[in-house]
Amino acid sequence: MTASNPVSLSRAEGTVLDALAKLKKRVNVIELVETLGLDQATIFGASTSLAEKDLISIRESEEKYARLTEEGMIRSKVGLPERIVIDYLVQKKGGNSEFDSLKHDLHLADDEATLALGWLKRKNWANTTKEAGKLYLRSTSKPQKGPDEEMITKLSTVSEITLSSLDQEQKIEAESLLKRNLIHVATRKSRTLEITDVGLEAVRRGVVVVEEVTQLTPDMIRSGEWKKAKFKTFDVSASAEPTFIAKYHPIVELIEEVREIFLELGFEEIKGNLVESAFWNFDALFQPQDHPAREMHDTFYLTSPSKAKLPDQSIVKRVAQTHEDGWETGSTGWGYRWSKDIARQVILRTHTTATTIKYLASHPNPPVKVFSIDRVYRNEKVNYKHLAEFHQIEGIIMDKDASLADLMGILKEFYNRLGFEKVRFWPSYFPYTEPSAEAVVYIERKNTGENGKESDVGRWLELGGMGIFRPEVTLPLGIKYPVLAWGQGLERLFMIRTEGVDIRTPYKNELNWLRTIPEMQ
Ligand code: PHE
Repeated sequence: MTASNPVSLSRAEGTVLDALAKLKKRVNVIELVETLGLDQATIFGASTSLAEKDLISIRESEEKYARLTEEGMIRSKVGLPERIVIDYLVQKKGGNSEFDSLKHDLHLADDEATLALGWLKRKNWANTTKEAGKLYLRSTSKPQKGPDEEMITKLSTVSEITLSSLDQEQKIEAESLLKRNLIHVATRKSRTLEITDVGLEAVRRGVVVVEEVTQLTPDMIRSGEWKKAKFKTFDVSASAEPTFIAKYHPIVELIEEVREIFLELGFEEIKGNLVESAFWNFDALFQPQDHPAREMHDTFYLTSPSKAKLPDQSIVKRVAQTHEDGWETGSTGWGYRWSKDIARQVILRTHTTATTIKYLASHPNPPVKVFSIDRVYRNEKVNYKHLAEFHQIEGIIMDKDASLADLMGILKEFYNRLGFEKVRFWPSYFPYTEPSAEAVVYIERKNTGENGKESDVGRWLELGGMGIFRPEVTLPLGIKYPVLAWGQGLERLFMIRTEGVDIRTPYKNELNWLRTIPEMQ
């Protein structure tokens, strides 16, 4: 660059340089967005090229900033629960009232009321007494707007606050708002700019603004105009405002993916009832009536209706007899007295095998190749890896010469398509299949040790049950050919895919989590 030639810049570069020359101090790109009316990406791009010409200097750092969550946004309008209660108590109740009546008057939900009570005490705005078994609330002061409320109000107008701009006390407040899920904190790259002496000198001499071309058109190529044009450069590493586009819920995505695989493998989808008789869920599958899985701690029983219809008499009779002495299946049965009443109990299905077996009973002719992805219920204590309501994936194949080798082949293909390269089968047990097996897949994981060497810390994980339905299951239903079957939980697959996300998380509808979780496929 010679001293006599004015620098030529793009319009955005010129605007940014001008602004920096006037400000003569280090400024954040965010502030320039507001003052210049240019978007962040444009300023980022312009500043990168200005810095390359030594006209400005850039400093980059990570910056944490807080924004209101959805809940915070609502609270900024209606007030915190403790504020709603205290205002009503002081203004309408003379500072003293029974808590239940306040709760009723203000239409507070139980958890909201508990929250309000906790914070009223913590903030020393009110105290409680118990009289004749009733809880009374008495205000202790006329509470001023607290620093937490100030911060919420501020955030509702400025939309975000950088954490580094907060003093020690405000930081503590932010911490508490974070715990109450009223704000969330995110990190982004922050960039500050300052004009250099070279830049100041350039501005003093005057810069030439050259219009930049953002799009190359056929016309420009034909006329040769492109040779003279100055093309806009894009800084693809510039950070920009995150945008949250609409997308499917990750569980729905996974269901879709599994459905696609089944369809590609030539299966047809079936749907069945969530509410089913014990007959189809257990008896038809040769599970004895005193089987532990039927007990109250595993199965949800309905009290209304309390009795289900059973299928055709002849089917029921054959199933009953098979349980008792094996009927004509070649088995000796379980050797107990089968009860119709137990079979008529109404339950929420505990597995989708209830649906596939019922389907087979009404489609006894080969070939049958169907699948189901649907909800099942088990009376389980909910924790990070167990849900009481979840999904099962289930497939069956009935054909004249279907064999265990076919089942292993198709399952290997099925799991390969789901992304598991190594698949094995271990012997297992189910009351309705023989042989029975468990499909296990290898989960790859590598560890880099201190010496920089990679070691394999992957492991084999059981994914699902499989087998060939026993004659005690098929013959009483009039099914004459081998039935290959397998089933597994969908959420288990989800946990593997997400490397151990708490199984309850996808069902909490936490917007931030849903927005940031990567696509499943
Ligand atoms: N129903 C079994 C379960 O709920 C899975 C299974 C399906 C096993 C079909 C064998 C055959 O775990």
